[in-house]
Amino acid sequence: MGTGYLLKQIRQQKIQTSDINCYFCRMQILDGKIVSQTVKNTIKEKTALLKSTGKKTPHLAAVLVGSDGASETYVASKVKNCEEIGFISTLIRLDASIEESLLIETIQKLNADDDVDGILVQLPLPGQISEEKIINLIHPNKDVDGFHPVSVGKMVQGLPTFLPATPYGILMMLEYYQVETKGKHAVVIGRSNIVGRPISILLNRNAYPGNCTVTVCHSHTRNLKDICLQADIIVAALGKPGFLTSDMVKEKAVVIDVGISRVPDATKKSGFTLKGDVDFIHVAPKCSFITPVPGGVGLMTIAALMTNTYNACVLKN
Ligand code: GUN
Repeated sequence: MGTGYLLKQIRQQKIQTSDINCYFCRMQILDGKIVSQTVKNTIKEKTALLKSTGKKTPHLAAVLVGSDGASETYVASKVKNCEEIGFISTLIRLDASIEESLLIETIQKLNADDDVDGILVQLPLPGQISEEKIINLIHPNKDVDGFHPVSVGKMVQGLPTFLPATPYGILMMLEYYQVETKGKHAVVIGRSNIVGRPISILLNRNAYPGNCTVTVCHSHTRNLKDICLQADIIVAALGKPGFLTSDMVKEKAVVIDVGISRVPDATKKSGFTLKGDVDFIHVAPKCSFITPVPGGVGLMTIAALMTNTYNACVLKN
């Protein structure tokens, strides 16, 4: 990774010199900026090749219901990345108060539209809409989020399919930095359908990255600290800022921080700071590898989504 990034973190967080020595001798940042850019450059080149040979341009349709600040930011970034890569994107914005039937109709239209290769409905959805119903409605061939039961079933069986973007992005990072996973004990904190559950399955598969022994922890897990202390790899995906502290991490562990919470911060123009689930400053010195927030897994989610959209287009046409 570029040491520039680390130096910036150190400067901003006012880390002690003794910690800096520790950082430089042992720990490597899993840098989402570098890996995501590499992945996106490849997709951009492949897309240019599609176009130059008269093939169809990948087209992602994103549906945003309501105006939640974080969802707005994520969807805007997905659309911007489509443009940068050379995809077509369509953003469909619907009011937070819409009836479920309108969203169902929207998805049916996108399923039937031959020009649309991938469909993404940004989650969470407002309470009056069943996320399960909507996810189940997206045609599996256009399910670039990998949330449809057909995609999940194929993933569990190790069959080719669209992998959910955040877990897929984590795999890309582990692969890029050649992090050893075979025979390691991975502890996943969180069991959401979006991250915790799928990454636990993917780290456990007979492949690289994979072949871990996986423990999935959640809000009812007893002795969480003891379990984490046995982990070679920890994936923190519970959405509680600073939850994973240094006393929960063994020396040379690999720590993947999936959290990206908005914490109020009056000193920031936006009024918030982005915080991960890991107490980065104190955990990092113990790690062999760690992802930062921001600049880690979040960027990989987009790179993985772009990869899925490209593949959806190529498979369909
Ligand atoms: N909300 C949080 N993460 C995701 C994601 O990966 N895809 C969608 N569609 N919504 C999300």
